[in-house]
Amino acid sequence: MDTSATEQSPKVTLLADYEQPAYLVDEALLQFDLDSAKTRVVSTLTMRKNPQGPEADCILDGEALTLVSLKLDGKKLEGNQFQRTTSQLLIPNLPDKFELEIITEIEPDQNTALEGLYYSGSILCTQCEAEGFRRITYYPDRPDVMSVFTVTIVADREKWPVMLSNGNMEDQGVFDDGRHWVRWHDPHPKPSYLFALVAGDLHVQQDSFTTQSGREVALRIYVDPENKHKCDHALTSLKQAMKWDEDTYGREYDLDVFMIVAVNDFNMGAMENKGLNIFNAACVLATPETATDDDFYTIQSIVAHEYFHNWSGNRVTCRDWFQLSLKEGFTVMRDQSFSADLNSAAVQRIDDVNGLRSMQFAEDAGPMAHPVRPDSYIEISNFYTVTIYEKGAEVVRMINTLVGDEEFRKGTDLYFDRHDGQAVTTDDFVKAIEDANAVDLSQFKRWYEQAGTPELTIDTNYDPIEHRFTLTVTQACPATPGQATKQPFHIPLAVGLLDKSGTSLDMQLEDEAEPHHGDTRILSVTEASQTFEFINVSSEPLASVLRGFSAPVKLKYDLSNHQLAFLMVNDKDSFNRWDAGQKLIINILLELVADIQQNNPLVLSSLLVNQFERILTDKKLDPALIAKMLTLPTENYLAAQMTTPDVDAIHQAREFLKRNIAVSLKGLFNQTYEKLSVKKAYDFNADDMAMRSLKNVCLSYLVASGDPLQLQRCLRQMKQADNMTELLAGLRLMVDQSGLERENALRSFYEQWKQDRQVVDKWLAVQAASTLPDTLIRVKGLMKHEAFSIKNPNNVRALIGMFCRNNPVHFHAKDGSGYRFLAEQILVLDKLNPQVAARMLGALNSWRRYDEQRQQLMKQALESIAEQQDLSADVYEIVTKYLA
Ligand code: ARG
Ligand code: ZN
Repeated sequence: MDTSATEQSPKVTLLADYEQPAYLVDEALLQFDLDSAKTRVVSTLTMRKNPQGPEADCILDGEALTLVSLKLDGKKLEGNQFQRTTSQLLIPNLPDKFELEIITEIEPDQNTALEGLYYSGSILCTQCEAEGFRRITYYPDRPDVMSVFTVTIVADREKWPVMLSNGNMEDQGVFDDGRHWVRWHDPHPKPSYLFALVAGDLHVQQDSFTTQSGREVALRIYVDPENKHKCDHALTSLKQAMKWDEDTYGREYDLDVFMIVAVNDFNMGAMENKGLNIFNAACVLATPETATDDDFYTIQSIVAHEYFHNWSGNRVTCRDWFQLSLKEGFTVMRDQSFSADLNSAAVQRIDDVNGLRSMQFAEDAGPMAHPVRPDSYIEISNFYTVTIYEKGAEVVRMINTLVGDEEFRKGTDLYFDRHDGQAVTTDDFVKAIEDANAVDLSQFKRWYEQAGTPELTIDTNYDPIEHRFTLTVTQACPATPGQATKQPFHIPLAVGLLDKSGTSLDMQLEDEAEPHHGDTRILSVTEASQTFEFINVSSEPLASVLRGFSAPVKLKYDLSNHQLAFLMVNDKDSFNRWDAGQKLIINILLELVADIQQNNPLVLSSLLVNQFERILTDKKLDPALIAKMLTLPTENYLAAQMTTPDVDAIHQAREFLKRNIAVSLKGLFNQTYEKLSVKKAYDFNADDMAMRSLKNVCLSYLVASGDPLQLQRCLRQMKQADNMTELLAGLRLMVDQSGLERENALRSFYEQWKQDRQVVDKWLAVQAASTLPDTLIRVKGLMKHEAFSIKNPNNVRALIGMFCRNNPVHFHAKDGSGYRFLAEQILVLDKLNPQVAARMLGALNSWRRYDEQRQQLMKQALESIAEQQDLSADVYEIVTKYLA
């Protein structure tokens, strides 16, 4: 019999199969005898039958565990009294109430998957979401089982002076034999995925925060001693987040201490374990010398994100993993509005939409497309996606837009109040908003159920005699795997009308008695095709639609390049100003691509140069916005706009445009650069960040102009920089220049920073993104460098991830070398860390969109992976869905 097929087909989990747990855990007492080679876990669970649950045996999850002993109400269970498989422990014939004692052994230093308890550098730490707790002990490892945890940790005092877990520290002591112990208690019932434990020789930086009701909370950041100078920004961000959540959502912190730990080996960004957040060091540590403005910005938002989970995720959690976006979408939406409030709201929106359109739209158009609330999965780790997070955030944002700010707040108050301490669903979330405001969101819920990016077509007509302006909106959504047809979505469409001078016109729909004043109004689109008639429109308007990107849709709205240029300088909505500019640039670049393909001579658009000049000299415009508006779309984003991407022509067109804009406006770039080059100490604030970003954009154009003197200026900026933002901007430009200066710049950068992991990752990433022809050879060489370890996810993402995702010209090399390289690395990684391996596959998401030859090569790469025996469920699921 051929067993390989069954071995190769891991189990599919379906939302439709959801059942309540048969048994509940009221209390979990855990005792850890810690050691990096062998850790012993004694788990004592107070359990009872779930009155609402099905009649079923008690099943505990467990993976890669050595079972030492099992006791039921104090009596040892013999091997014939329970059943054990590689992933479960089944105990039949249990009473209604009982106590289980389970002793297991685990090997943290053998754990390269970084799930469960593992060893990172010299720190022992955990990652349990989604299903890592089952690698620590046998347990009903599902989010709807919530329990009160008490954790005792015993370990050698010298080696593990700091020992942390969730909640408040209750007691500690010392044994005679050189070991010590500590006991933590978390009064808030929680699912196992929020459990955490950390031990190590850690430096702690302390602060405190007084909550709105006067509770004093100790704030502590734990880091390797070598990183003790890198905690300030995270602590400031944490206090900002705590205050913001009180002011904006009325949410207060609920323990005596809030702890953050930084570790070097981490699969994702960070984790919101109750009271003990664990962070990827790259997402929390920063000084101006080692972190860029973008890093500062990201750290502020991730610290806030994890903190916000204390309510949206921990106090109210998910019933099952299909509801992941309940906590992630909502929490991303919260961290985005936090960042918008603290920094520039316009820039925040542009960055969020840019990310969504370049990553999530591609996911929605590819073989892994899934709804915000998926209905099946093989490996849940594969569903920590941009759809769950970023599209999920857009969905919550649309609810806010449709009901209004005050109403949304009423809804979230009811949600937190009604479901505090519960494990709930996205339906429960929507119901709370509906109940608090007497609104009907039933059609809106399709956003949770239907995958794919809706396409919105806009047609307009002006009747100069009747003074009527007609706006027709048609929506359609392409088929996605498992969903052939779609029902119309409920779409909030933000619109404004501009007259010839750029002034806003009043908007009065034909059934309204009064016109709507104000620049923007929200139209509620619910039908496949819908017409809005505006009356009393005195002159022919230009409609600015989807302002602020009010819905995650693709817009088909045919505007001429002149109309786009008009909106680029006149729109009242900053997002749409930027977006009109981007559309204009894309139109021009795609024409250049066509010219390249037909061997036509390339000409620079004077319209674009004029608009760039106007933007660059606009004294009223925020320099951060100017920088965004002058930034050309990425090659990947351009590829997504073509039916069949032509990577080489795209690269050539973009280089042509950049160089020629640079040459035309060299004086202006030069002047702006010099004006922004005033020496002042680094500070992280919106104004200074804006200046640095515009300065760096100017430098990139100056270097693109091809003038060799500008390279000297770039080197000078690097030499004089007192911060990583300016240093790295210079290095990025240098790596695309072949020659000795490049090699010197890279070498001295490494010499200066080789002790700093965060900076070394930047050094790797910069080289992986180089456009020089020998980049893949260099990447392979760097994999043997002392700075690189394939076991460290940040190293892998910086080098292999950067090359495969952000170096399209070389990754998509015609000879298939980039694809083969990726396939080889995935097979190596899959044995070590399946989550990281599966992530890397994302680089092939759009493989079917490419030309015949490249498709064939990418298919071969995918097949070489699919052919392997013993693939992880993670890689198996993605590779089979890609090939399906
Ligand atoms: N819940 C974390 C967050 O805040 C993500 C952690 C998930 N980790 C994982 N290995 N699946 O987004
Ligand atoms: Zn999250």
